[in-house]
Formats: sequence, structure tokens, C-alpha cells
Amino acid sequence: MARKVILDMDPGIDDAVALCLALADPRLEVIAVTATGGNVSPRQATRNVQAIIERIDPPRWPRIGAAESEQLLRTDARELYGAEGLGDAEFTVAELHNRHPSVKVLSEELRQAPGEITVVCSGPLSNLSALFQREPETAAMISELIVVGGSVAVGGNITAAAEFNIYCDAEAAQRVLRAKVPTTVVTLDATQKLVLRYDLLDMLRSRETRTAKLLAAILPGLYHIYRQRYGMEGVYLHDVAGVVAAMHPELFTTKALYGEVEVTGELTHGATVFDRRPQPEGAPNMDVALELDAAAVRDCIFRGLDHGE
Ligand code: BDR
Ligand code: CA
Repeated sequence: MARKVILDMDPGIDDAVALCLALADPRLEVIAVTATGGNVSPRQATRNVQAIIERIDPPRWPRIGAAESEQLLRTDARELYGAEGLGDAEFTVAELHNRHPSVKVLSEELRQAPGEITVVCSGPLSNLSALFQREPETAAMISELIVVGGSVAVGGNITAAAEFNIYCDAEAAQRVLRAKVPTTVVTLDATQKLVLRYDLLDMLRSRETRTAKLLAAILPGLYHIYRQRYGMEGVYLHDVAGVVAAMHPELFTTKALYGEVEVTGELTHGATVFDRRPQPEGAPNMDVALELDAAAVRDCIFRGLDHGE
């Protein structure tokens, strides 16, 4: 039986690839995609979720949740993913005014299938944080939470110390990671082990599926920026690792650790601090992915996207 998942995301190019991969994989049943601001504004993130799903047009449409327009976020990633978050591609979507808010969609779906749903968060954790504040009992209804975020030993990617998703809404991340939910954190230590090279673009350009056409339109700018800015002949697609972790946890090396989010530091705001001492101060509160099997994860991504609609 397929694993029920809700994807909570801020597309963003790597979120877009993650969504396409999840929709393509029969092991996952994507019941909802809830938008959050992060890489782009809340409104744009919602539009991007809608645009991707409309273009893929999967046989079973997931519910779409709209990001809260008043979200307070510390930064965005438009420099990396483009002004509208999906590279050079521009999509028009019908402006829907009756969308349910992401927090409501999360609440309703969890209540309908308590203990059955895996939530994969690949953006700032604002939605779950708001949900847990308003309806604390929903935390116990999540079967597993996978968070793409944080770092252990490799420093940050938005500041020297902090990873982007955690930094954007560190208070939310603190609340969510303190909640009693079985949680796996897919850190930069793992996601940066996988560089997707130009053969991914070549594969997508050679296919006629809607998934391949969509991704071939949005990905090229990201390769360009990675080459210009970081001198890399390839890109990181952090969020895709989060979806692969839901499909194939065995491809990740994890360690149970006690961790907290720094919310006051001037230089370290949004950093994740893990107690790696032999006698940590607290009991482990999450499984932390430190490594991934890069060749196997890459294969899984290629195979999955090759089978998209
Ligand atoms: C995370 O930051 C965002 O820009 C990406 O979409 C990903 O979720 C990686 O640090
Ligand atoms: Ca993201």
C-alpha cells in the first residue's frame, strides 16, 4: 500500500523537483501539498504549487493549501531560484480566492487519518508550528515527520552557521523540533553529498512527458547560477533528498541525537545545535541524516523522473 504523504513546501526549484518525483512514485500517495513562504513570498509559493500540479496534471490531484500571507520570514532565495522561484520559467495560474489555508489542510488531513500520514517539510516550518500552537493534539497524529533542514558539521548555506529553512523561521523550527513527533532531519551534511550533474538535464530534455518538459524548463538557470557562483558543474537538490528519504530510508545513514535550534544568537541565529558528546544533555529527539548513498539516491531520482506523467 502506498505511503500517505503531505508535502509542505516553498517552491523553489528543488521543491519543484521533489514534488514531481513524489507525484511520479507509486510508493507515495501525495494527499496534499501545503505551501509556505520561504524561497519566495507566501503568495508566490502557493501559485507555484498550483502551477506545478496543473502542469503535471496527475491522475489524482492532491489538495493544495495556501500559505498564510502574513508569514514573517527572515529572508528569501530569489537570487538562487529566480524572481518567481521557478527559474526562468514563468507560469500563469488562475487566481483562486477560496483556497483553504495550509494549516487548515494539514489539520483536516491529519484528523482524517491519524497515525497514517508522513509529513515532508522542505521549507520553513511555519505551517506545522502554527498548527501545533493552535491544535497541539495534532502532533501525535503525524506518523513520521521528515524535515529538510539544519546542519551538523558542514556549517550553513544562508549564513556561516545556519541552513536556509531553519533560519527563515527559527522560532517555528524550534517549536516543531521540540514537539514529540518521530522526526528525521535531512541535513546539509547529507544533501550536499549529492551533486546532480548535466546528465539530469540531458535526460529530461530527451523525454516528452509533462514532468520532463516542466523540469527541463525550470532547471537550466539553476545550473548556470551554480557554475557562476560556486564554480560547480552541477546542482544540489536538497529537497529531493527529503522525498527520497520517505521512499527509501535505507539509503540514508542516520544517528539519533538531541538537537535544538538557536533563536537568539547574533551570528548563529537559526543554527541547529546537536549534542554529540558521549553524555548528551537531553535524550535524542530526532534521527539526523548525516550521509546518503549518493549513487543510489541519484538512480532513484533518475528512475522516478523518467516515469513521470
Ligand atoms: C533548503 O533551502 C531552500 O532554498 C531549498 O529549497 C531547500 O529547501 C536547503 O537549505
Ligand atoms: Ca525548499
